[in-house]
Amino acid sequence: MNLADLNRVALAMAAPGKGLLAADESTGTIKKRFDAIGVVSTEASRRDYREMLFRSGEAMSEYISGVILYDETIWQDASDGTPLIKLIEQAGAIPGIKVDEGTEPLPACPGELITVGLDQLAARLKKYHNRGARFAKWRAVIDIGAGTAGPGTAGPGTAGPGTAGPGTAGPGTGSTDIPTETAIHVNAHALGRYAALCQAAQIVPIVEPEVLMDGDHDIDRCYEVTERVLNATFGELRRQRVALEGMILKPNMVISGKKCSRQAPIGEVAAKTIRLLKSCVPAVVPGIAFLSGGQSDQEATAHLDAMNRIGGLPWPLTFSYGRALQAAPQQAWSGKAENVAAGQRAFIHRARMNSLASKGEWTADLENNKAA
Ligand code: 13P
Repeated sequence: MNLADLNRVALAMAAPGKGLLAADESTGTIKKRFDAIGVVSTEASRRDYREMLFRSGEAMSEYISGVILYDETIWQDASDGTPLIKLIEQAGAIPGIKVDEGTEPLPACPGELITVGLDQLAARLKKYHNRGARFAKWRAVIDIGAGTAGPGTAGPGTAGPGTAGPGTAGPGTGSTDIPTETAIHVNAHALGRYAALCQAAQIVPIVEPEVLMDGDHDIDRCYEVTERVLNATFGELRRQRVALEGMILKPNMVISGKKCSRQAPIGEVAAKTIRLLKSCVPAVVPGIAFLSGGQSDQEATAHLDAMNRIGGLPWPLTFSYGRALQAAPQQAWSGKAENVAAGQRAFIHRARMNSLASKGEWTADLENNKAA
């Protein structure tokens, strides 16, 4: 492993004013996105759509540091025969690859998931590196069960009274026991295994432990669960000898569940997310790039901007958005060749807004004045 080189790539991924485009939707997920805009998902339509994004010159050269690809895309050619991965490189961005193989039910933990794909990962990483990928992504998914507060508010690294083992009903009612310590532990372990294998293959791991925002939990429950998840994740990274200088963290923000009756305002999301990251993420990590996780485009941008306005942070904070960068271009494109320019304009606008947010320079005026 050449750590100086991994560190150089990781720093470039979080370069000032730049962030990552997560264009690594699996075939099933991109079909859902295409269904919503009335486009049939075929190998050709997926290629045309992604080619449109990667040929958005201003976005790709000025605001996007790297692109996370799906396995199909990394082997695809553009309509003129140029490999799609070359379009990314020619724009000056770094190609990366999603290497997890999705989730499966976690045995003995009803309702919880484990991310799979470690078998053969070393061999796959070698192939991806030969093709030009310089970073990878692995997403662990942690759900928060229904109910506003867990039976125990576990502090950092402590297994609280609410962490009932499989088969034992804790003092809560079933779903408030989610996430279990079991799910947090095995997912953190897999992230550690993945990250160590990446570094051995000279690929920067994006470590993504995503705490979902789907439930009715409040922002403080999200804080408590994300704290347990980040502490477990960094524990495993250390135990498995991952060099923290050669990785990027991709966390969720600390935010109210979508179905919670009280939606925390932007300033509270920013302050609580920063407080948590400062307490859990070592300063030596080269960059933190958030997922958008189902926030609206503008919320995801406003939250990132508010955090960067707080300032004085040991790491750059940027974006690694999927939906919050792509919803607008997907809508504008809608699968029609004559809409490619409109799709590219929409993508450039969102990329530029998030670039500004990564510097704490975004404003609602700039958002609404698309020509500015
Ligand atoms: P979202 O920004 O849509 O959450 O996607 C980012 C990502 O890569 C999730 O794994």
